[in-house]
Amino acid sequence: MSNNTKSEIFKHEMKISKDDRSSIKNQNPCIIWFTGLSGSGKSTVADILEQKLSSLNKHTYLLDGDNLRHTLNSDLGFSNEDRDENIRRIGHLGHLMVDAGLIVIAAFISPFKKQRVETRALFDKNEFIEVFLDTPIEVCEERDPKGLYKKARSGLIKEFTGIDSAYEKPDAAEITMDGSKHNPEELSEIIINYLKNNNII
Ligand code: ADX
Repeated sequence: MSNNTKSEIFKHEMKISKDDRSSIKNQNPCIIWFTGLSGSGKSTVADILEQKLSSLNKHTYLLDGDNLRHTLNSDLGFSNEDRDENIRRIGHLGHLMVDAGLIVIAAFISPFKKQRVETRALFDKNEFIEVFLDTPIEVCEERDPKGLYKKARSGLIKEFTGIDSAYEKPDAAEITMDGSKHNPEELSEIIINYLKNNNII
């Protein structure tokens, strides 16, 4: 892969800024980054959150791991390296969308601390809101909406997060919620309240 520090490539400073774009929309752009195990509820809560924000007239976009792996990241698998590349691309994509003035919701397992730290570093202070859905693996496995835990237990899928691939819990997420203690509606409301209390919406 080529690197982008080539001395022949120069950055062009454009005239219209993030502030210009977001003020037209009357909103504070940010990225709400969900992390957690498969089956923890990320996509479900993200979907409800986007509906709530949309009904508040906020211009959002939802980036979801399962969906993006069918398109932009269809060339990637689940090795540690491919997961890093998955998150690296999504971090930059989310960053562009925040620069466009949007409220972005990202729902990816993003299992490694380093991935999340590096992604956070792309954004301005207070723009990256990490939401850890700390649903116990027993609950995720019981839910098993796609039958993947079953396949992983029987060895049909390798490198499955929580089984034979690591999940490193965040220790300083902005919001940590146990997805087995509240329903998705309540979980999304906790996030809405956080956004309101921090003057983001
Ligand atoms: S990440 O680890 O790179 O952040 P991502 O969120 O994009 O993962 O994709 C996870 C989704 O892919 C899971 O919700 C699950 O449906 C599916 N999947 C398929 N194989 C695996 C695997 N080996 N580990 C985790 N998820 C998998």
